[in-house]
Amino acid sequence: MLYKTLLLLHLLGASIWVGGHLVLALRVLPRAWRSGRWSMVHEFEEHFETIGLPALFIQIVTGVWLALRYLPLNRWFSLTSYVSSHIALKLLFLGLTVALAIHARLFLIPQKENTQAMYSLAFHIIGVTTLAVLFVWIGVGFRTGGAW
Ligand code: HEM
Repeated sequence: MLYKTLLLLHLLGASIWVGGHLVLALRVLPRAWRSGRWSMVHEFEEHFETIGLPALFIQIVTGVWLALRYLPLNRWFSLTSYVSSHIALKLLFLGLTVALAIHARLFLIPQKENTQAMYSLAFHIIGVTTLAVLFVWIGVGFRTGGAW
């Protein structure tokens, strides 16, 4: 029962995080880029933040919990099985996601009027969205004998 609940929460969190970023990257961002109305991106992010950040937090808590069901902490980085390489990859993606998000939040988003900073923000959005899809790809690999 606990396993099912953790998996359900993990998948719900994934739907929100990945779905939200795909809408941002594929619908909102191209329109903002073409029209130069970067406020569209900021408005979307303002609304998404309140649900997206708790979803990411749920991903981390449930993900770590699920990973501990597969392997003890001291074998997460052993890279001797596909499970350990999948856990290590998920944590690498998490580190990259957090680094991109912090950089965008602290240095790019405050420069709303600077077009160069907004182009840079666009590449951050594409990066975080790509990582979100990679999270799903690696996640599916756990129960299917490996992602590759
Ligand atoms: C935004 C971040 C994340 C997304 C979108 C995501 C997505 C997914 C998806 C779609 C699955 C497949 C579930 C299934 O087989 O039905 C999965 C599985 C899994 N994820 Fe994540 N994940 C994320 C973060 C993490 C983190 C930080 C960890 C921690 C290491 C983690 C650990 C796992 C584990 C261990 C499984 C296998 C669960 C199982 O089948 O028992 N995930 N993830």
